[in-house]
Amino acid sequence: MSAPEGDKIDKLINPIESYPPAPEFVAGTSIPENLRERAAADRLGFWAEQARELEWSKPFTEVLDWSNPPFARWFADGELNVAVNCVDRHVAAGRGDKVAIHWIGEPGDTRTITYADLHREVQRAANLLEKLGVRAGDVVTLYLPMIPETVFAMLACARIGATHSVIFGGFSASAIRSRVENSGAKLVITANGSNRKGRVFPLKETVDEALAEPGHPVEQVLVVQRAEHEVDMVEGRDLWWHEQLEGVSDSHEAKGFPAEHPLFILHTSGTTGVPKGLWHSSGGYLAQTAFTFRTSFDQREDDVFWCSADVGWVTGHSYIVYGPLANGATQIMYEGAHDFPSLDRWFEIIEEYGVTAFYTAPTAIRGYMKSGREIPQRHDLSSLRLLGSVGEPINPEAWEWFREVIGSNRTPIVDTWWQTETGAHMIAPIATQDALKPGSGQKPVPGISVEVITEQGERVNPGEMGLLTITEPWPSMARGIWGDDQRFIDTYWSQFPGRYFAGDGAGVDLDGDLWLLGRVDDVMNVSGHRLSTTEIESVLVDHELVAESAVVGAEDETTGQAVVSFVVLKDSQREAAASIDVEAELRGHVAKRIGAIARPRAVYPVAELPKTRSGKIMRRLLKNVAEGKPAGDTSTLTDASVMDAITEQVRARG
Ligand code: PRX
Repeated sequence: MSAPEGDKIDKLINPIESYPPAPEFVAGTSIPENLRERAAADRLGFWAEQARELEWSKPFTEVLDWSNPPFARWFADGELNVAVNCVDRHVAAGRGDKVAIHWIGEPGDTRTITYADLHREVQRAANLLEKLGVRAGDVVTLYLPMIPETVFAMLACARIGATHSVIFGGFSASAIRSRVENSGAKLVITANGSNRKGRVFPLKETVDEALAEPGHPVEQVLVVQRAEHEVDMVEGRDLWWHEQLEGVSDSHEAKGFPAEHPLFILHTSGTTGVPKGLWHSSGGYLAQTAFTFRTSFDQREDDVFWCSADVGWVTGHSYIVYGPLANGATQIMYEGAHDFPSLDRWFEIIEEYGVTAFYTAPTAIRGYMKSGREIPQRHDLSSLRLLGSVGEPINPEAWEWFREVIGSNRTPIVDTWWQTETGAHMIAPIATQDALKPGSGQKPVPGISVEVITEQGERVNPGEMGLLTITEPWPSMARGIWGDDQRFIDTYWSQFPGRYFAGDGAGVDLDGDLWLLGRVDDVMNVSGHRLSTTEIESVLVDHELVAESAVVGAEDETTGQAVVSFVVLKDSQREAAASIDVEAELRGHVAKRIGAIARPRAVYPVAELPKTRSGKIMRRLLKNVAEGKPAGDTSTLTDASVMDAITEQVRARG
């Protein structure tokens, strides 16, 4: 880990054009003017006020218990039911007929789910889980596509106090295996397949493969029928969701759970080979996701919100399920790919449903920039009033293009910085109040305390870059790494005592606004998805051909970063390697072991890796070369000619 290097970026020291809020945008907002000041004056009082927007079956009297840092307890003596907050209370308030989810299947089938429908489905699913023996405190793994049942299942878990552990549908069998082992899930809910680019993407088969060898905790697999696709059902283990729902009551009495009850576990890549299962609480998590949803997106009663993330990532948890539903919002949920059957698909949906707020990732924006503005421009996107960006740094060019082409030169863009660990937005402008700067996340969310510091722990001056830290606990912070408290301390809280270190670099401009600069550790960000260099390296050396490997995240015009790997083959395997396409074999191996998202863009078999005298691999040099730049200072290498050979090899490939 080291602070971002290089010249001070221009943006930090040169004034840039910003976009003040337009009066017609601000009109009708319910965001109070003095939110930041209020939060700064009384941080805990401010968060308590936000938490009181939720419905508590037993009101809390304590706000924060920080007596055992870094393990925070928020609103700990209160009790609430998260599903009741996301569903029942809206129905009770007479909003049962309001659409909660406009669901769109990739083949074109649709479902309109009102809050009353959601209420019924969540209660049925809760009864089903209880019928199968799931109890409060149990963990349920979900490996599901973007279908309504995924939301029903998540909320059903919340309703009965079970902890869900959603695994993104693109992850491989071995990723599922390690996650169910880590969480101890007895039940897995999956689907017979999902629709992806006109084909059926298998899910059940992947679960079968994950559970093939004994020694895992899973006893039952519940299968939702979604795609036209036959699957084998394992006698005594597998059950169809629709069959099991037959005759199940659609009324379920919910009880409250303590605010600190674990709502979910979500695994994410870190700097080691083993993914971390971050776990989140109920009350604090919901309070901050609900608050940030309505503030960052300036939510209005008639809005149609759309977050294009997959529910398998934290963005889907917080801004498809919990944030929007806690606010009784109407939203879009789309099953398939943005480019199926054509690149018009997303814009058709925005047009057809009158989407007002659209939240997506810079990779998608850059992808559309490449394919040309005529695609969005052949659609009426005038319903949009706000756009949001998440997952990776957004370059000013993409920001401007997003505003001009998708936002008709009119909509504000909120760049929201946060992480699986933070649970909810931590840095984001308030679009009704701030003059927006293209490419900047601007200010901490009200009630959040951020500081950019040097490696020595000193606050950087305006105009400088450093490491992003959070100095005070916040309600939606992860409560730990499932089963490994020490790793939680070591990973986030040990570099700078008393502070949370996010792993990201940031700059502070002369106005004090924040610019997010990406990871400064061994974590890559590919299309807004987090991947660990170490995890991919260890998967590569697990292949019989490979003796050593080094993986870097090289800059990529569209995906932000791309996985590029360098491998040294085993001498004993050279003959075997000569008869196959080594690159294809190793790219496939990584995809199989981790998931297609981790498939390297390139694999270079090299004679040797660049190492220092103490044996440390100089990944920075490899990264430069992978980006088409000169390798840089090779003076600390044992043998500088190693880098010359690699540079030549990469150049030759072009
Ligand atoms: O590097 C930051 C980047 O994504 C990382 C968190 O990844 P994950 O936990 O998968 O959550 C992604 C969605 C919240 C961060 O450490 N990141 C996220 N949002 C931004 C960002 N980088 C720059 N700007 C952002 N808005």
